[in-house]
Formats: sequence, structure tokens, C-alpha cells
Amino acid sequence: MNQDQMKKQVAEAAIEYIEMGDVIGVGTGSTANYFIDALAKMKGKIDGTVASSQASAQRLQGHAIPVLELNEVGDLPLYVDGADEATRQLHLIKGGGGALTREKIVAGASERFVCIADSSKLVDVLGKFPLPIEVIPMARSFVARQLVKRGSLPELRDMFKTDNGNMILDVHNLEILQPTKMEAELNNISGVVTVGIFALRPADVLLLGTPSGVEKLG
Ligand code: A5P
Repeated sequence: MNQDQMKKQVAEAAIEYIEMGDVIGVGTGSTANYFIDALAKMKGKIDGTVASSQASAQRLQGHAIPVLELNEVGDLPLYVDGADEATRQLHLIKGGGGALTREKIVAGASERFVCIADSSKLVDVLGKFPLPIEVIPMARSFVARQLVKRGSLPELRDMFKTDNGNMILDVHNLEILQPTKMEAELNNISGVVTVGIFALRPADVLLLGTPSGVEKLG
């Protein structure tokens, strides 16, 4: 089974978590895209979705699945999204696709966060994948200097603007041994909008696609 087949397999497994009449949160990325495509086959069961990016909203609308504003619907029963790295403690790095801020908002507004990922994303310690941090444009250089002081190597994501009009720093050379502490600390730098560590609000369930089937953690 190749990586795409494993992504598709976990995306389809996440459909089980949906209940009749739900409005569900939908994430961003290639694994979330497989989930959207699986959702299209049973869209009569849900009342609508809240998308974590413009790209996902477009894909949902392409399948004629209703996309609603989070402000209109309040809390959600379920959020399904991928990750760039995940640990067995269900801490994640997200934001490889640049949608981390809306993803963190929708995850926070959801009772249950089901993360879907192929097994290559499972790590013992977060940080090999460069940590995405969304920053207000005028703070780009200031935030980068604060990160260098902490011994890491921030790199501006080239020619990229988030759905919120901001920039992304991809931060190399971080070994994230205490994810909740580091998330809070980096969030506290002025000019940082969102840090791609999802530990203060981790996933509740991690569905891992492996060559021998779906493994469930959490
Ligand atoms: C989007 O900003 C990310 O958080 C994605 O969830 C993450 O990059 C996983 O993407 P893939 O499913 O494409 O690996």
C-alpha cells in the first residue's frame, strides 16, 4: 500500500465518527481532501461543514456540500484533519499547508478532533518537520530574531500568503520536548498569530494508516 492509499484509507475510516444531522469541521491538505471526497458520498447525512481554509471550502462546494460560517453554528461535534507530525500523546505539528490558524480555531471549537494521517507522520519527538508559525507581516523580522535567540532557524515561506493575509515562518532546528510549554511560549511572542504545535488542544483520536490497516490511538 502506498502513502496515498494509506491516506485514503484513514480518511474513509473517519467517516464512522459522523452522526446524522452533524455540522462538522473539515481540515486542509491531501489527507483532508480524501476525507472531503468520502464525505461527498454520504453528504445527505450531515447538515453542513465548517472549512478550515478557502481551498477546502472550494473542494466541499465542488461536491455541493454546504459550507457554513463558524460564527453561525457555534461549537461543532467533530473536526477531522490531517497533520504533518503526530506523537503517541496525540500532540501534533500542523500548518504544512499554511492553514494552521483556521485549523486551530476549528479544532478549538470542536468537541472531538479526529486526526487522520499515514504512518510516516508518527514520531517520538516533534520538530523534525519545520514548525510553521503564522506571523503578522510587520513582525516577520522581529519574530524571526526571537526564534534565532532560542537557537532555531526560521525561514520565510517564499511567495506565500495565508488566508488571513499573513506570512509563514518555517522553523528548523527545534526539538519539541515539551510541546504544551513551547506552544504557549512561542504564542506569546508579539506578532505571532498562531504556532503550528497542537498540544494545548491535542487530537482526541489519531487514525494512522499503516500498510496492514488503520491503527487507532487515543
Ligand atoms: C494544513 O495547513 C496542514 O495542517 C495539514 O493538515 C497538514 O499539512 C497535513 O497535510 P497532508 O494531509 O497533505 O499531509
